[in-house]
Amino acid sequence: MDRQQSTELTETAGQNQTLVIAIDGPSGSGKSSTSRGVAERLGLQYLDTGAMYRAATWAVQQAGVDRTDSAAVAELVRRTDLGITLDPSGPAFSVDGTDVTTAIRAPEVSAAVSAVATNLEVRAELIARQRQIIADARPGIVAEGRDITTVVAPDADLRLLLVADPEARVGRREAELAGKADRAAVTDQVLRRDRDDSTVAVFTEAAEGVTVIDSTHLTLEQVIDTICGMVKELA
Ligand code: DC
Repeated sequence: MDRQQSTELTETAGQNQTLVIAIDGPSGSGKSSTSRGVAERLGLQYLDTGAMYRAATWAVQQAGVDRTDSAAVAELVRRTDLGITLDPSGPAFSVDGTDVTTAIRAPEVSAAVSAVATNLEVRAELIARQRQIIADARPGIVAEGRDITTVVAPDADLRLLLVADPEARVGRREAELAGKADRAAVTDQVLRRDRDDSTVAVFTEAAEGVTVIDSTHLTLEQVIDTICGMVKELA
């Protein structure tokens, strides 16, 4: 980030204040790549809240706790130390000191994460941690998930909902998995997870004050450009 950009950001956020960009969207909408790209370009920190739910799920699986025992799951998550680096060029995660950056992307975690993410006590715990991370971020942060614009950071400076047609979202996930899963399995993963997740967070329609960006026909660069342009307008 050059000095002029840095000065503009400070002005945008106000002296000694944090610039918060909240981005929600369903899986495959491109929100992770977009959020990382925006954070890198603007010199902000980056928080992937989905990874926190994934890390909590990994912890539950390692401990052998029954996923349907919601009180035991919540108790375990409250006791678990989740380490998160907020660097957009290489986000990393640990659980009680063990690096889980790769492990939390495993199919077993993807298949189980909705069950943990729909546990309301787990959500309360992780939302509190997310709010603290956002409050401590300097000079600002791009936080992405399903309920950032509505629950975690409804006062964010910029609140965005990233959407894309289901075919585009399934296609992107398929490309990410690079032939390791067939289309039917990916379709199930993307659409079933959206259905399960949407029982606890509204991320298919924009709340008041939230701007929708449809990325179906846009490249990643175009989406990042659009958002950086919106940040400039805030100043
Ligand atoms: O974005 P992702 O696929 O890594 O998210 C993992 C899971 O966590 C997914 O089931 C949605 C859920 N999630 C959530 O409920 N709230 C968030 N703020 C972020 C993710």
